[in-house]
Amino acid sequence: MRLLVTGGAGFIGTNFVRYVHSARPDWHIRVLDKLTYAGRRENLQDLEGSGRYQFVRGDICDPVAVRGVMSDVDAVVNFAAETHVDRSIMDAGSFVRTDIEGVWVLLEELRRGSPAGDSTRFIQISTDEVYGSVEQGLSKESDQLRPTSPYSASKAGGELLAMAYFHTHGVAVTVTRSSNNYGPWQYPEKLIPLFITNALEGQPLPLYGDGGNRRDWLYVEDQCAALLAVLEKGTPGAVYNIGGGQELENSRVARAIVEATGASEDLIRLVADRPGHDRRYGLDCSRVRTETGWHPVTPFEEGLARTVEWYRENVSWWSGIKSGEFRKYYESMYGGRLSAGRGPSAGGKV
Ligand code: NAD
Ligand code: DAU
Repeated sequence: MRLLVTGGAGFIGTNFVRYVHSARPDWHIRVLDKLTYAGRRENLQDLEGSGRYQFVRGDICDPVAVRGVMSDVDAVVNFAAETHVDRSIMDAGSFVRTDIEGVWVLLEELRRGSPAGDSTRFIQISTDEVYGSVEQGLSKESDQLRPTSPYSASKAGGELLAMAYFHTHGVAVTVTRSSNNYGPWQYPEKLIPLFITNALEGQPLPLYGDGGNRRDWLYVEDQCAALLAVLEKGTPGAVYNIGGGQELENSRVARAIVEATGASEDLIRLVADRPGHDRRYGLDCSRVRTETGWHPVTPFEEGLARTVEWYRENVSWWSGIKSGEFRKYYESMYGGRLSAGRGPSAGGKV
């Protein structure tokens, strides 16, 4: 198997490449990554001498770069994306380019390089956010898509385009829609790594709104196992929900992090809400379970303990990030919110 992993130097990509490299010792893995603020080649540096791993820097929106890495592969797993909802609210341009146009470039190359019916697999990694906020119950793969943020709308565009290439051109597309991942190598803009690293630094934990929004947490190693199962046993033309089955209020996650890091609960601050903040997502994962046998095995408490341990042991990884581009981003995203008066909904304690 020759596998192309686009966006492989980001959070899930890094974990997936490492997982597959170890689980499938006869597979060759090539990563194509633009190395945006979220990508780090050094995450996978130790694999570079293995003879089964190759890193190429390039943009999925660039047809020449894509052609150069795709011609000889058996499967493509596309993680490459702009992924942070808050950033998509500040500026959606790069989301539209990478999450829609980039997917189109990959699909065009697959269509051109392989006549209809060829079996080069294409796994498009999508998100539970394409269903929009689901106040109650669980979303099935056949449910209507109602994305609400520029991020989720772009991801919906990308996966719909991918399915269109399956139906129209016979490209062997499979889509996965995952819930919130957490674990090692996650960029510290996302809730769990931001709160862990802030707690370790004695900095405030800015909880949006009333802290009552809910997310379903999936430990990244379980995600990797699911994606390998879908790659090996999933059906072209199918969509698979992949959830952790561990739904928690954000305030509960914040308290768990305070406990796991030994920080003070006083660090948790309620701050002004994210515009258009989806209240809840929930996934029915019976299809992936029935068709591939996969199910998540890591309880949240265990996954969180492992994640906290990783961030404790890899301070140089995240402190370098937090002192760079991140600092400007953090100031514009949180500066005003955290300095706002302490009230029940802005700057107040939980
Ligand atoms: P991430 O932000 O950590 O990493 C994204 C990677 O893509 C980075 O390495 C970046 O350099 C690369 N990239 C961005 N634009 C690129 C481009 N134009 N060309 C090539 N490479 C580019 O993201 P993540 O959290 O690992 O998410 C990976 C995928 O999984 C994304 O498609 C995301 O939408 C999806 N997803 C993530 C989660 C989650 O909880 N993190 C949940 C569901 C789905
Ligand atoms: O659901 C899957 C999605 O999960 C992925 O598709 C996205 O790529 C990924 O970023 C993630 O999106 P969320 O918006 O759910 O993740 P985030 O970590 O940004 O936020 C999780 C919850 O925590 C959400 O309700 C917003 C809240 N939050 C987040 C941050 C960064 C806070 O209260 N404070 C914060 O500072």
